[in-house]
Amino acid sequence: QPSNLQMEGNSSLRRADCRAKGGAPGFKVAILGAAGGIGQPLSMLMKMNPLVSVLHLYDVVNSPGVTADVSHMDTGAVVRGFLGQPQLENALTGMDLVIIPAGVPRKPGMTRDDLFNINAGIVRTLCEGISKCCPNAIVNLISNPVNSTVPIAAEVFKKAGTYDPKRLLGVTMLDVVRANTFVAEVLGLDPREVDVPVVGGHSGVTILPLLSQVKPPCSLTAEETEYLTNRIQNGGTEVVEAKAGAGSATLSMAYAAVKFADACLRGLRGDAGVVECAFVASQVTELPFFASKVRIGRNGAEEVYQLGPLNEYERAGMEKAKKELAASIQKGVSFIRK
Ligand code: NAI
Repeated sequence: QPSNLQMEGNSSLRRADCRAKGGAPGFKVAILGAAGGIGQPLSMLMKMNPLVSVLHLYDVVNSPGVTADVSHMDTGAVVRGFLGQPQLENALTGMDLVIIPAGVPRKPGMTRDDLFNINAGIVRTLCEGISKCCPNAIVNLISNPVNSTVPIAAEVFKKAGTYDPKRLLGVTMLDVVRANTFVAEVLGLDPREVDVPVVGGHSGVTILPLLSQVKPPCSLTAEETEYLTNRIQNGGTEVVEAKAGAGSATLSMAYAAVKFADACLRGLRGDAGVVECAFVASQVTELPFFASKVRIGRNGAEEVYQLGPLNEYERAGMEKAKKELAASIQKGVSFIRK
């Protein structure tokens, strides 16, 4: 099987593929962009996830090495590697969940929108493959600018006649992970006990932490609220600047991506009460896409929750967020429709 880059030595001595074909319990997951800064730790962490039975690692470079490396981990998932566009279809066929961290990351001084020109085309190509080979898969889209790439993916799927809004989720989990961490620091709590809803989108002022809804309930001063909102909105830039040209968040992003993918797999399995924030098709505001809490089930984002009561500070932030979001969404839609 030429597309299986994991094959080493005498393949007749290996029964792993028979095990995978025999319907070992678990889900089939593909990572597109698996050799990248996010892709590599994400591949490792997904190989450790007990809900995964088959893991397909696709990239346009270096996926053989990552595949060989990850495939030696003695966990359940069978790993297969796929290199370059001609192998995209094999990488996608039969997948239940597709995670996309493909594309260029920011350098200091860049906004996420500066990535649009390169990443929009990458996301289009990958989503065309999904439409063709696994139109029912749940898609977790990480590639930036998420505020535009999710609308791009939706347009590609609409064109192909495969669009199911419930199955397309933009990953904003890193904003939630950061918010939980920073709020816990201020409150002197364990971050694992803190839950901060972050709504809107995934870029600058569109990242809107609802600090009035933090669990456990707490009261933050105006100064703390201002500090936390700024830090959560600029968490990505904090990492970009610290890495000084070597890229953006990769390790915390891989952690967040796995936390989110695991929620999707638990939803697919039929677990009740799986609720996470994600950037999805939405009727919560007048915008066609918006990040808020969603309940994830067998069909993906089965229910999109309302925002709940906002305080004055959050309502003001909301207006700024919606303005920028509307433009980013439109830019994504036009990229495909033009
Ligand atoms: P990276 O440059 O280290 O890795 C990207 C990978 O994508 C590379 O291995 C590259 O070969 C691959 N790639 C490029 N074109 C491809 C194609 N057509 N098909 C498949 N793979 C392709 O970048 P990194 O740091 O892993 O970031 C990836 C993306 O994730 C960036 O767009 C970044 O902005 C975004 N990101 C999103 C976050 C979020 O919260 N949603 C957080 C951090 C980054």
